[in-house]
Formats: sequence, C-alpha cells, structure tokens
Amino acid sequence: MKTTRKKEWFDEESFWRELYPFMFSEQRMAEADEQVAKALALTKPRGKSVLDLCCGPGRCSVSLAKKGFSITGVDKTKYLLEKARSRARTAHVKIEWVQEDMRDFVRPESFALVISMFTSFGYFDDTREDVIVLENMFTSLKPGGACLIEVLGKERLAKILQSTSSSALPDGSILVERREICDDWTRVRNEWVLIRKGKAKSFKFHTTIYSGLELRDRMERVGFVDVTLHGNLDGDEYGPNAERLVAIGHKPI
Ligand SMILES: C[S@@+](CC[C@H](N)C(=O)[O-])C[C@H]1O[C@@H](n2cnc3c(N)ncnc32)[C@H](O)[C@@H]1O
Repeated sequence: MKTTRKKEWFDEESFWRELYPFMFSEQRMAEADEQVAKALALTKPRGKSVLDLCCGPGRCSVSLAKKGFSITGVDKTKYLLEKARSRARTAHVKIEWVQEDMRDFVRPESFALVISMFTSFGYFDDTREDVIVLENMFTSLKPGGACLIEVLGKERLAKILQSTSSSALPDGSILVERREICDDWTRVRNEWVLIRKGKAKSFKFHTTIYSGLELRDRMERVGFVDVTLHGNLDGDEYGPNAERLVAIGHKPI
C-alpha cells in the first residue's frame, strides 16, 4: 500500500526539467562510463543484476547495460525516465525502468549490486526516511551483494563551503548557487537562481548532509557489514580533502 505524503521539493518535475542542462551536462554524461568502471572495480559484484536507484536520465544504467549487466533503473521523475528510455534506445540496450519513490521500491534478494550515484541520498525532511531507503536497498540485495552510495560528505562541505558561487552554462545561461547550513549542521538549504535570456528563476531545495561516520552508522544499523568509506570512486582515502563520500557496504552471505 502506497503512503500519502506531503509534497517535497524533489516532487516538482520542473525542478529536474529546468535544471537538466546544468545537472546532466554533456560532460557529466560522458563521465559515466569511467565512473561505472570504477564503481565496479570498488564493489566487485558477484553477479550481473544491478539496481540503479534514482537513475535519473540513465547515465549509469546505460553504461552498465553496455557492459553486459542486467539493469533496473528506478526513479520517480517521469521526465528523467523518458530521457533514460531514449538514451537506452540510442545505445541499443534493454533496461527495466520503474517509476517509483526510493522509499517504496523494494524487491527482495534480487540484485548483486545497488548503486545510488551523484548525490541521490539524503533528500527527506524526516531522516528516518533515509534509513527506510537503506533498508530497502539492503532487502533488495541478494546475500553477498554490495551497495554503493556516492554523495558530497559533510567533512568536505565544511572545508569548501562558499555561501554563493556562480557558473556559466553552455547555452549562455548563468546559474547562481546560494547555500546555507542549518539545523545544527545536519542540513544544507540551497537556492539556485537560473538566469536565462535576462529572466531569473529561483529553485529552492535542501538535503541532509552526512559525515562519513553518520552514513556508515546508518548503513550498519540496517544490517550492512564491512562498510568502507572512500574519498572518490578510485577508492582514495576519505576526509576533508576528498572530493566525494563513497560508502560501500555488503549484505552478509
Ligand atoms: C542528482 S540526480 C542523480 C541521477 C543519477 N543517479 C545520476 O548519477 O546521474 C537525483 C535523482 O534522484 C531522483 N529522485 C529524487 N527524489 C526521489 C525519490 N523520492 N524517489 C526516487 N527518485 C528520486 C531524481 O528524479 C533524480 O533523477
């Protein structure tokens, strides 16, 4: 039975549609093959079935499918799943796409690997719901399966935090990003202002920001074992100088 929930920022399809050129730039799309190869080297899955949770436009799903993996891509944004379908068609790969909320999707003992890439974790106002997502990931793994979560870590954010920054997009638009840490350093509140053809549009969103220890603790709490933290997909050490927080956990055999 589906739960009725209040609408949150990530439910707004226009958020993903209008920021698509920035979030999923050609460069970011092109990086997927290499990222996926590194994620596989780090996790060494014991099988070919992979769940790409919050797959978006299928960046990683399509790369994995091209390598012969059997992919289920789950995302709640219809617009992004349509992009994913079209990319899979162009690449001549077959992928199962599921439009569902990450708090609901669970398929017991079905996958050798679950990935959550490019900051797709920590979206919920009630952080117990992040734990539900971890439980779903754990349940969906086969015994011996691996889970990889890739986000921006709190240690890094504390070091590089800039309240405002801006960047120019290839189509000539400008994106101004403003961020503020709130709720006792547990959450980052963002406002992105997209200036296109002289018109500005603002998008507000917030995420929970996990430290390495906080993420590892939550993963262990739901049953993951041998949880390791890395500073990038090359497996370098995690800490304030690490570009990313990559957490890998395993379901016991
Ligand atoms: C930053 S994008 C990352 C996409 C993809 N993982 C990648 O590496 O390119 C975050 C994704 O999470 C999806 N998402 C956000 N909230 C979700 C939810 N509650 N359930 C399922 N998907 C969600 C969005 O639609 C979006 O595709």
